[in-house]
Amino acid sequence: MNEEKLTLNNAVTMPKIGYGVFRMTDCIQCEEAVVQAIHAGYRLIDTAAAYGNEEAVGRAICRCGIPREELFVTTKLWITDTSYEGAMRGFARSMEHLGLDYLDLYLIHQPYNDYYGAWRALEELYAAGKVRAIGVDNFTSDKLADFVFWNQVKPAVNLVECNPFFQREDERAYMEKQDIQMQAWSPLAAGQGILFRNETLCAIAASHRKSPAQVALRWLTQRGIVPIVKSANPQRMKENLNIFDFMLTDTEMEQIAKLDTGHTCFAPRQTGQAVDEFLKKALQYRL
Ligand SMILES: NC(=O)c1ccc[n+]([C@@H]2O[C@H](COP(=O)([O-])OP(=O)(O)OC[C@H]3O[C@@H](n4cnc5c(N)ncnc54)[C@H](OP(=O)(O)O)[C@@H]3O)[C@@H](O)[C@H]2O)c1
Repeated sequence: MNEEKLTLNNAVTMPKIGYGVFRMTDCIQCEEAVVQAIHAGYRLIDTAAAYGNEEAVGRAICRCGIPREELFVTTKLWITDTSYEGAMRGFARSMEHLGLDYLDLYLIHQPYNDYYGAWRALEELYAAGKVRAIGVDNFTSDKLADFVFWNQVKPAVNLVECNPFFQREDERAYMEKQDIQMQAWSPLAAGQGILFRNETLCAIAASHRKSPAQVALRWLTQRGIVPIVKSANPQRMKENLNIFDFMLTDTEMEQIAKLDTGHTCFAPRQTGQAVDEFLKKALQYRL
């Protein structure tokens, strides 16, 4: 079992690796995968209202046989609910879907719409003990800095894309300075073969008798980042957890640092047109 934990800025402890369920739209498959992941040793489960599988995750949590307090459950507020009233409504809907009476971590999924208003609601839910920690998702450092400056409760977590090809070292350092825990989504570049075939990662993996995936996940944890990794395959679920029995050397960390491209592995969202298109799609999610 994976007992590795770290402490957030509000003293709540969180596992050092999590299991994510993005793109698991088949609810039966998702429920089975989450039960298997928990049995493999994952204790942090990451879902979102927009993933459409909170009910499946909730059923898995209910039947997995592990006490609720040993699990760390994250869900996220979608853009269409990102306002004060929307967040109250979205939280209630997510809790009903999950079948839970408290949440461990509630994140604002994207920095769009009225995320300052939504934060007021999250602060109230946090003060009322309905959620143990609140945070943000996909906030670049400039947005995060402004957000921290004007709010009372500092986000405990910021979840952003991070993997050996998009390392975000400046942003990691800024979050560390602010005592905001960085989590990494798509830590394996969403399974794109380039990561598993990369010469540097393969060579380091061979020298430790590990896989390139394990090296990428270990590299994140050695930078103090919590990977949120997805696999529907029970063997790979276990493989991805088995990263706490080896250390990458300073030289290996430097070799991996050289793989950074400085760019997202997905479609960038830095132009008005890209955001326009993304927001139009965001309206189509059924929550
Ligand atoms: N907040 C956000 O904006 C956001 C965005 C994206 C993702 N996320 C979160 O982050 C989680 C992970 O991201 P992700 O699903 O995009 O990508 P990922 O975890 O980087 O990669 C998952 C892919 O890699 C494959 N894989 C996993 N372990 C492997 C291994 N050891 N060897 C070879 N292949 C392996 C999986 O296939 P198999 O299933 O066949 O093993 C799957 O295709 C999501 O599920 C979600 O919870 C959040």
